[in-house]
Amino acid sequence: MTNYSYLYSFNYGYHHSDLCKLESRQLFDKEEKNKLLFSNIKVDPSISPFIKKRFDIISSSENYSELLKTIKKENIRVDGFKVEYLILDGDSTEYAERLSKIRDIGYCINAVPDYYTPSIYYSLCYYKNIWYFGILIKQKTDWFKHKKKPYSFSNSISIYIAKTLVNIASKGNKTTQILDACCGAGTVILEGCNSGFNIEGCDNNLKVYQHTIDNLSYYNYTANVYLTDIKDHKKKYDSAIIDLPYNLYSQTNDILISNIIESTAKLAARIVIVSIENIETIIKKSGLKISDFCTVEKRGKINFTRNIWVCEKEIGTHSDKNNTKS
Ligand SMILES: C[S@@+](CC[C@H](N)C(=O)[O-])C[C@H]1O[C@@H](n2cnc3c(N)ncnc32)[C@H](O)[C@@H]1O
Repeated sequence: MTNYSYLYSFNYGYHHSDLCKLESRQLFDKEEKNKLLFSNIKVDPSISPFIKKRFDIISSSENYSELLKTIKKENIRVDGFKVEYLILDGDSTEYAERLSKIRDIGYCINAVPDYYTPSIYYSLCYYKNIWYFGILIKQKTDWFKHKKKPYSFSNSISIYIAKTLVNIASKGNKTTQILDACCGAGTVILEGCNSGFNIEGCDNNLKVYQHTIDNLSYYNYTANVYLTDIKDHKKKYDSAIIDLPYNLYSQTNDILISNIIESTAKLAARIVIVSIENIETIIKKSGLKISDFCTVEKRGKINFTRNIWVCEKEIGTHSDKNNTKS
């Protein structure tokens, strides 16, 4: 009935709409629409701040009774299951009917349910005249603890942006070696570690370097952090993230920005650059090709907009041929 294996549901505030779409293009090669996306690419929802659920499609049918028959034929015997109804855009099924359908599904499964501490969630949803049955994987929310990290700056990027940058840099591939080239207090590294990515950082400022070390140890994460100027760092990576220093932009400081970008480009073929200034010309002069872009406004601060550029070296070596990303 469907050619797709996965259905993803998203949620985000209006100010994150473009950022979510950028992440979605980088992870799935297409944008989510109406907070929904069908794909054959498997992504762990817990790596993204915006993917709330992944629905692993087991069967689908235009006919609800036919769907129930195919579920019975699956002969599912997993104790501790719970069935949840996933409400999608355009589904007007009333509460009482949803409840009754959850019961129908429960009766098709030959196992003992557990409503309070389920070991697995089965789910039913309805989209564009088709009923879907599958397994529901929910986003883990433990990354919210990073909101209370011991050290941060007033203008540090949010944990939402940080989490997304790791996905954009890696395209969701957890084997990618990532460098946070100007790691500051380590906001990005914390998210990378929490999502299980291979990430390291460097910064040339002793005070913020120590803040990263302390933030990482506060959450028991282990990641290498180097106290060094990016121009002196020699280790190679698959991709890098640069959250450029603020208040650097002026004619005289173009050189500093170019130096950071060019030094990073010697270490990684794919680079995600964040800046509050429009530095597109400098990026292009550095020999990088911009492949994607978005802006993110700081909530409540219209004049504080971050630009995010996804860049590749002209002779890129990035390899990401595996469909499974987690
Ligand atoms: C905007 S802050 C990064 C903030 C970080 N993303 C966070 O949220 O904590 C930029 C950082 O770049 C560092 N930096 C500036 N020039 C650098 C260089 N040449 N090499 C390495 N780090 C540099 C600064 O010390 C500063 O911590």
